[in-house]
Amino acid sequence: MAAMDGVPAEEIRNMKVDGKDEDRVGRDGLPQPVVVLGATGGTGQSIVRRLAAMGVRPRVVCRHPEEAQAVFKDAVDVVAGDVTDPPGLCRAVAGAAAVIDTVGVRPGRAKEALIRAVEYDGTVNLLQVLHDDGFTGRLLYMSALGTTRWSPSAMALNLFKGNTLKWRRRAEEAIRRSGLDYTIVRAGVLTNEPGGRWPILITQRRLRMSLRHRISRDDVAEVILLALAHPAAGRTTFDVVWHPTSEPFDAMFERLQPDRPAS
Ligand SMILES: NC(=O)c1ccc[n+]([C@@H]2O[C@H](COP(=O)([O-])OP(=O)(O)OC[C@H]3O[C@@H](n4cnc5c(N)ncnc54)[C@H](OP(=O)(O)O)[C@@H]3O)[C@@H](O)[C@H]2O)c1
Repeated sequence: MAAMDGVPAEEIRNMKVDGKDEDRVGRDGLPQPVVVLGATGGTGQSIVRRLAAMGVRPRVVCRHPEEAQAVFKDAVDVVAGDVTDPPGLCRAVAGAAAVIDTVGVRPGRAKEALIRAVEYDGTVNLLQVLHDDGFTGRLLYMSALGTTRWSPSAMALNLFKGNTLKWRRRAEEAIRRSGLDYTIVRAGVLTNEPGGRWPILITQRRLRMSLRHRISRDDVAEVILLALAHPAAGRTTFDVVWHPTSEPFDAMFERLQPDRPAS
């Protein structure tokens, strides 16, 4: 995709997100409108803040528009939408040029029926409405470590939160089968620290979910926006965590291998 082509990822990473350097990224970089689902969540809010600093006004799809408007003021276009309601979702994402999906059941114990409805059926609903709308952009999907690798932490999370990693894995599979351009970003255990403090590793080694593999929501937001723009991130799935063996982003993106179909 043409998004931010020609701007090395490392250069984008080094830009401030307080708005001073917004002209270096430019309004012409990302295909627009960029539609963000899950924008009222921790990672979603960081994504919106970063887009605003880049001069991009995203369309925010959320269940409670008045709350989103209060948070984001005039920086976004707010549209009501719920991933469990396909007709409303259809109207909300119509005409999207790029879609970022960080939707998930809020932290805490949850029944499997809710997890399935939001994290699997909701993703399938999104894929269907994008397909019906003729969407040709890239879908950035936020997932989690542990969808395909067992660990004690993953097992504990599944017991506590309605088999969330199992339904995420199935959602990932549906995305890979969809025929859309996509990037699946599997984040480590999330923290609320400000971004930019620790080196970030992007890898396809399939890390175990564990408290050793953490990353802040703010840093995930940065990686999601870089992946949205990077040609080498298309049709890939990768893990993202803090790790001392980090490298420049461009090098890590260039090493990504596209997923095997339906893997
Ligand atoms: N916690 C972790 O360590 C971890 C690790 C890796 C990945 N993840 C996943 O990464 C994603 C982002 O995490 P986060 O902590 O930044 O998110 P978060 O703060 O839990 O926010 C979740 C977002 O999903 C939205 N949402 C929930 N149900 C929805 C529905 N039916 N339709 C539309 N939107 C809906 C929420 O909207 P409302 O404002 O309406 O509630 C909120 O904006 C989540 O999917 C999470 O499961 C979490």
